[in-house]
Amino acid sequence: MPYVFDAYGTLFDVHAAIARYRAEAGPEADRFSDLWRTKQLEYTWTLTLAGRYEPFWTLTQRALDYCFERFPSVDRALRGKLLDCYLKLDPFSDAVAVVTALKQRGERTAILSNGSPPMLASAVEAAGLKHLFDAVLSIDSLKMFKPRMEVYALVTKEFSCKPVDVVFVSSNRWDAMGATTFGFRTVWINRAKNPDEYTDCPPVAVVPDLTALLSLKR
Ligand code: LAC
Repeated sequence: MPYVFDAYGTLFDVHAAIARYRAEAGPEADRFSDLWRTKQLEYTWTLTLAGRYEPFWTLTQRALDYCFERFPSVDRALRGKLLDCYLKLDPFSDAVAVVTALKQRGERTAILSNGSPPMLASAVEAAGLKHLFDAVLSIDSLKMFKPRMEVYALVTKEFSCKPVDVVFVSSNRWDAMGATTFGFRTVWINRAKNPDEYTDCPPVAVVPDLTALLSLKR
């Protein structure tokens, strides 16, 4: 019964990069960071719909360059620093403890992410999570992004299991929609108390943080 985690936004805080340079980034820092994430995801969806592919790392850089154009007050000298941070994003404060507890319970664990293998490997290592995952699965082998069903099938292939055997954990409601459509038991981590979406495709649970996973009934 594997527990499978989305990476960016779920285990790793995508706004941690700008947080380290908030003073240098200036008053537009939060809008800049929000747009960076929005554009990064938009590029994954548009390229996949068009049957095209570029690695997530390339799209992360293109999205960042768009943001520098959109917010000229943010100093372009931050480009390299922000990208370096993205390779070593802070994990959410409960991530290491929760995955450790799941491993102690004897659960199998994995990451399923849009991230390119080198950027994922770097973030997992920097966060001290490397030894806690049985598999780190990237969409790069398929050259298409979430929420294509082929992506979620990487998990059932890896663990030779049925979709219903998988607990899939994501803070991205659209990713939870895709995982639920595939047949996973999906837990939506709604840290920001966002309104629900895709209400015809509900997760099995909605929780405020990763810690709440430990008290969910299997
Ligand atoms: C990922 C994206 C959704 O890690 O953030 O797959």
